[in-house]
Amino acid sequence: MSEDGRTLGVLISGRGTNLQAILDAVRDGRLRARIGVVISNVATAAGLERAKKAGAPTTFIDHKAFATREEFDARVVEELQSHGVDLVCLAGFMRLLSPVLTRAFSGRILNIHPSLLPSFPGLHGQRQALEYGVKVSGCTVHIVDEELDHGPILLQAAVPVESDDTDESLSARILSEEHRIYPEAIGLLLDRRIEIEGRRATMVG
Ligand code: GRF
Repeated sequence: MSEDGRTLGVLISGRGTNLQAILDAVRDGRLRARIGVVISNVATAAGLERAKKAGAPTTFIDHKAFATREEFDARVVEELQSHGVDLVCLAGFMRLLSPVLTRAFSGRILNIHPSLLPSFPGLHGQRQALEYGVKVSGCTVHIVDEELDHGPILLQAAVPVESDDTDESLSARILSEEHRIYPEAIGLLLDRRIEIEGRRATMVG
């Protein structure tokens, strides 16, 4: 943990546009935080280059080098702690978390999911929404608990689903809302402007 409690660790596996939104918000002073470390389980993740470009420390941890999920998570926890991380942000991190990670950072892990939870958890939230035929979808920032895409919801944004939408067009509409609400939710939590009681997160102040 850091002195002012404002050090972020971002976990990624891929292109890292949400990571970019966080990096940009930090750079522009819209989000008062520092990036302690960006960790990827994929060596070629484009997000690693984004982090390097922004001057953020990066670490690649290959999940295939560990016999169990727990051992991989323990290594991730060690890396986060060694960088003084206070709040962990999952940003397209394509690994299920074991209790080793969720307990080490209990209540201090956030995730962004491309649907209005509790609808369409799991993979391909956008495609699930299209196939179901809903007229409104969106994205959700929530606190991570031990169940997938489940913990208390901090912020959501809704977008319309148009009749001619494809997976790509709907995903793009949702993604631009992700980039807006993820840094905002991180800031609210760091500023203690959100109080969590049971499942319900409410704004204070
Ligand atoms: C986003 O759609 C996010 O909601 C989901 O994974 C995707 C990550 O995209 N969890 P990016 O790597 O941030 O561009």
